[in-house]
Amino acid sequence: MKVTKAVIPAAGLGTRVLPASKSLPKEMLTIVDKPAIQYIVEEAVNSGITDILIITNRGKGIIEDHFDRSPELEQRLLASGKKEMYDEVVSISKLANIFFIRQKETKGLGHAVNCARSFVGNEPFAVLYGDDVIIGDDPACGQLIRAYEKYGKSAVGIKAVPETDIHKYSSLKVEPLEDRLFLCTDMIEKPQTKEEVLSLYSILGRCVLTPDIFDILDQTPPGAGGEIQLTDAMRTLARTVGMTGVDYTGKRYDMGDKLGILQATVEIALKNPTVGDAFRDYLKELAPTL
Ligand code: UTP
Repeated sequence: MKVTKAVIPAAGLGTRVLPASKSLPKEMLTIVDKPAIQYIVEEAVNSGITDILIITNRGKGIIEDHFDRSPELEQRLLASGKKEMYDEVVSISKLANIFFIRQKETKGLGHAVNCARSFVGNEPFAVLYGDDVIIGDDPACGQLIRAYEKYGKSAVGIKAVPETDIHKYSSLKVEPLEDRLFLCTDMIEKPQTKEEVLSLYSILGRCVLTPDIFDILDQTPPGAGGEIQLTDAMRTLARTVGMTGVDYTGKRYDMGDKLGILQATVEIALKNPTVGDAFRDYLKELAPTL
């Protein structure tokens, strides 16, 4: 079945990027000239997704405003002859069919994904974590969709993390299938001892799930931090039918982390056609003084 629906969970509290995220959702933090979540929606659209559900919560109404029309602003841009910017602003509201639902209590990523049940129905769907921006020529979400289409199993985006950091992430049991693709048969969230580590591969940022995940989520008790963890439900899928791990190409930026935000800003600014060259000159000037 073709994957045309995506879910973007964006209802976390963003405590690691406070105070920036106190009233501004971290998903709306700017990278150069666009909010992070726009990069994520564009990746989904470039992967063939047509319908997107964004999971929000109280205080995140500006995400809805960003993907809506803005008649006053549009009129002003047209009247002042700024046709290119007018086209860009209007195109944001036409990227995809975008829907919103509120996660009424912050009970974890698994709980947030479970809010998408009636939107998803009985189809496979992509999940793009609202604070993970991935930049690359071949959209990461599309790479996972291709793996799902080929192997018929839920697919998870994976990356190797440093051994010293694996205790902060999930650790997956994997067997190679082909270039960049693995069969994943087990996982553990935040392994605390060396013996618990299954590999240095961890799930990062993206997955394509089959709809049976919802029944599993219904049965999943709160895990780490008292929250319903998506990885706990994925472990059931991995152990029973297996999942396909995709070591996707593209660079991931963690917008839920202060250093990640800075890295995204610098690297994406360097590629920007308008400010890239001037920014490179500025960095060259600055670097010798560091
Ligand atoms: P994170 O655990 O990185 O987000 O969840 P968080 O809870 O905002 O982070 P900190 O630790 O407090 O800084 C990954 C994604 O899942 C969403 C977040 O918005 C983020 O995009 N999420 C998390 C929800 O939608 N609901 C939740 O209950 C938790």
